[in-house]
Amino acid sequence: MAEVRVAKSAGFCYGVERAVKLAEETAREKGGCAMLGSIIHNVHVVAELEALGARQVDSVEEVRPGETVIIRSHGEGRAVYDQLRARGVEILDATCPNVTRIHQIVAQAEQAGRQPVIVGTPDHPEVTAIAGWCSHPVVVSGAEELEKWLVQDEKRRNLPLTFVSQTTSTRKIWDDCVKKAKKECTNAEFFDTICGATSKRQEEAHRLAQQCSLMVVIGDGKSSNTKRLAEICKEVCPDVRLIERAADLEPSALSQANVVGITAGASTPAWIIKEVYDKMSEENM
Ligand code: F3S
Repeated sequence: MAEVRVAKSAGFCYGVERAVKLAEETAREKGGCAMLGSIIHNVHVVAELEALGARQVDSVEEVRPGETVIIRSHGEGRAVYDQLRARGVEILDATCPNVTRIHQIVAQAEQAGRQPVIVGTPDHPEVTAIAGWCSHPVVVSGAEELEKWLVQDEKRRNLPLTFVSQTTSTRKIWDDCVKKAKKECTNAEFFDTICGATSKRQEEAHRLAQQCSLMVVIGDGKSSNTKRLAEICKEVCPDVRLIERAADLEPSALSQANVVGITAGASTPAWIIKEVYDKMSEENM
């Protein structure tokens, strides 16, 4: 009989959990609400929220006057709040506090005459939202892009620069940018705003996978974070299955395993993790 172990950090991070809970509670209390942008990359959770009356809208124009709108954990730029207020809608802000802190850092830096430099993926919603708290943001995807920006104008090396990072950026991308800026710029300050939730989940999955003959990774197969989680497990575990729901797990999967590990991406709710755990426990009897 295989032993089943679940990683403690499996599933929702604090920021996503908070946003989903707020949407759930608001939809129940008010009989419906709007969610601006995709609140979570999980079709099952989105379907549950829709059943409660929380509808996804992709632009401010789609929010109806008088409606309550949830801002997702990625946050929004300052202009979006202004547009929503102008439409007379109630705003419930589920921006992750880690992201709000970045908005404050860049806004204050600009007020103090500094140039914010955001290290992150330019078209990622969190990054466009951070840029939306600056009047002249600079976004670089890594050290190479930073180099390109610096050489475009020699004066840039002497500007007062304030560096922040997208919360889900990798440590290497950030460290390479810091290294370059420290070497080449005369007045740069750095705020390491990478969130620990992703790296903690990856480290724990890696540790657990080392002890298991089968590792089950639950999450959306299209999510880059979930795929990354599976790759990390594959480095140390011979059999890794990436599934979305318990039904995706082949009944024979457990037959050869001694110790089975379960981890899950940040968009996987606790009830799906439990569903997988229960199915495994049943088949294990
Ligand atoms: Fe917040 Fe970190 Fe999650 S920034 S939304 S707790 S990944």
